[in-house]
Amino acid sequence: MAQKFKTSEDWLNFDRDHLWHPYTSMIEPLPCYGVVAADKVYLELEDGRKLVDGTASWWSALHGYNHPVLNQALLEQSQKMSHVMFGGIAHQPASELGKRLLDMTPNVFDYVFLADSGSISIEVALKMALQYWQSREEPNKNKFLTVRGGYHGDPFTCMSVGDPENGSHHMFQSVIAKHFHVARPQTEFYAQWDDADIEPFKTAIAENHQQLAAVIIEPIVQGAGGMHFYHAEYLRQMRKLCDQYGVLLIFDEIATGFGRTGKLFAMEHADITPDIMCIGKALTGGMMTLAATITTKNVAMTISGGATPILMHGPTFMANPLACAVASASLDLLMQKADTKSGHEFIWQSNVARLETGLQQLHDIEAHKAVADVRVLGGIGVVEMREPVNVGKLQASLVAKGVWVRPFGKLIYVMPPYIMSEDELKTLCNAIIDTINELY
Ligand SMILES: Cc1ncc(COP(=O)(O)O)c(C=O)c1O
Repeated sequence: MAQKFKTSEDWLNFDRDHLWHPYTSMIEPLPCYGVVAADKVYLELEDGRKLVDGTASWWSALHGYNHPVLNQALLEQSQKMSHVMFGGIAHQPASELGKRLLDMTPNVFDYVFLADSGSISIEVALKMALQYWQSREEPNKNKFLTVRGGYHGDPFTCMSVGDPENGSHHMFQSVIAKHFHVARPQTEFYAQWDDADIEPFKTAIAENHQQLAAVIIEPIVQGAGGMHFYHAEYLRQMRKLCDQYGVLLIFDEIATGFGRTGKLFAMEHADITPDIMCIGKALTGGMMTLAATITTKNVAMTISGGATPILMHGPTFMANPLACAVASASLDLLMQKADTKSGHEFIWQSNVARLETGLQQLHDIEAHKAVADVRVLGGIGVVEMREPVNVGKLQASLVAKGVWVRPFGKLIYVMPPYIMSEDELKTLCNAIIDTINELY
């Protein structure tokens, strides 16, 4: 490739002047750090510094970066077929992946739609729910019910079921479809369940079920909407109420799937299953974009037996063979059995247990006056501050200490690659603690 830029400063300047980053302004954007390589749990900056990555690139790089098995899967598939349309064409990488997904999810599921990003898998899930009721000749069941504090992606339909008061929802009020939102679950994951918690949801579903196609929720962990860990009983009661009132249940496991909360899927904490589930992010081990919407025979057959018997979705890059091949390789890595002495069935379980133990160190900063709460679940560690943080300042301090974390709002949170060692976890937690002590 002929290079247009001679120095890193050149391409960094071009980036600052012309490329839009997530949620940024083009006038005085926050500084971006130039990354030239990533290996295991380290990001390498253009100036040679190496940072311990606490984000796994937004929950995705489970096995760390530059994994030889994933690289090899990508290389081998690229030499056979990088992409073909999925319309009227089948290919082995998609079947290999579909089979793995159905094998590793509860056996209520039978059908897989391979989408090209998490948000699109949500769009597909919502569409499935609407088409389900259209096929049953109940077209008035065309609204969704959800809880506040949710996040399901940035496209308009995803925003419509996300938190109604966060920035983006508020900005697009006039075009966002109106659905039903109730208070977020209040009882925390480890707290004693309080039956009053389900009341707002119970009332909303009782009053509106005739209009409701589905309920959608992130099970156990509300991610971008506040890194909130709530009680599994909420989900159990939600499942019962959805059955009682004839409303489909959609779980968004895009962030929580593949072991992040300590269970392979977060729904296992509640021991229930939804009618439709979405997965993404870690599906390819962070190598490339791919997601899936998975559903039951009942949903698929009902849609397919309706007046319009086709599921109305078909992105150009759905089931991309490269992404499917890498995803299968990543899932095979994930499902590797552990040494029997470890006390765990799978290696990922020992890894996530190590993360959970290492991240407990964040509790050392709990008593600080600027800190509202510290919480840890599986491979997720959160320091919630009392006030929104200055991201630029905080990041500069963390980078100077050799770690990469991307705070937002009041939250300094991490979800490291599963391979992170105890020492690297210490580096990560110490950097967060020292930064808070220095800046507040
Ligand atoms: C729970 C949840 N749902 C959906 C999405 C959207 O996924 P994507 O960014 O791949 O479109 C995200 C992304 O952060 C998410 O955390």
